[in-house]
Amino acid sequence: MSDNAIVKVRNLKKYFENVKAVDGISFNVSKGEVFGLLGPNGAGKTTTIKLLLGLLEPNEGEMEIFGLNPERNDVQIKANTGYVSEEPLIFKSLTPKDIFNFISSIRELNEAEVQERAREYLESLDAMEFYEQMVATLSHGNKQKMQIISAILHDPKLLILDEPLAGLDAKSVKVMKEILDLHTEGGGAVLFSTHIMEIAQELCDRIAIINKGKLVGIGTIEELQEQADKLGASLEDVFLRLTEQDTSVNEIVGKLRESFKKKQELM
Ligand SMILES: Nc1ncnc2c1ncn2[C@@H]1O[C@H](COP(=O)(O)OP(=O)(O)OP(=O)(O)O)[C@@H](O)[C@H]1O
Ligand SMILES: [Mg+2]
Repeated sequence: MSDNAIVKVRNLKKYFENVKAVDGISFNVSKGEVFGLLGPNGAGKTTTIKLLLGLLEPNEGEMEIFGLNPERNDVQIKANTGYVSEEPLIFKSLTPKDIFNFISSIRELNEAEVQERAREYLESLDAMEFYEQMVATLSHGNKQKMQIISAILHDPKLLILDEPLAGLDAKSVKVMKEILDLHTEGGGAVLFSTHIMEIAQELCDRIAIINKGKLVGIGTIEELQEQADKLGASLEDVFLRLTEQDTSVNEIVGKLRESFKKKQELM
């Protein structure tokens, strides 16, 4: 196990009644690394993230963040972690400026420095014009940008992002990549989830592919690409196969077509 590991997960399990949401997952996220959890809807990505944040209790397994146990809800973990949730959790009746001031105050940061950093991020993400606008009036993508900025203002050692790029346009995704790269070059680590292979490929140093709560592939893009080449398939094809999406899509489309045909025959 590398000493550079900021996150360590071993044989993690979380069951909801009869659903094995996380079913024995193990991985490390190292200092300076952008690590992606890649998997289809319902694979267990958000559950894994919530376990790491101490928001859910595991049934089994070990987790460590900065060598500490997230189940104990350590202040030290909270102070050094930034989190963007899947659902927009942002005060809608405040402006980004108010929110950033609020964050400076609860995190005991230097307000002038924080506002300066926030401005830089906003400018690079083409969102400066929304600085003093009520969040409720912003588009989904722009709300998403505010959430991401809110999570990195305190320069956390670990940034956890649950599907952070879903609402962002192509240019903002590129800028986000820059922001994440700067963060990791400074020694931080990023753990993020996505169901899109292309995004994982573009942003991650290493990817864990999960399906139905189980790890079905892990490695750098190059390592995964090599495996795909050996199979004579594209990385996307391998992802779809590993997560059983290739056959299921054909089956579903086939069934939909059949039922549509039957309805038309009855008309
Ligand atoms: N609180 C809960 N109670 C019962 N089942 C749950 C709960 N939370 C998640 N699950 C189930 O656990 C499984 C994994 O869900 P999870 O939200 O972790 O998936 P995900 O990979 O984040 O998917 P998505 O891409 O849709 O966000 C799903 O089958 C889901 O229905
Ligand atoms: Mg999710």
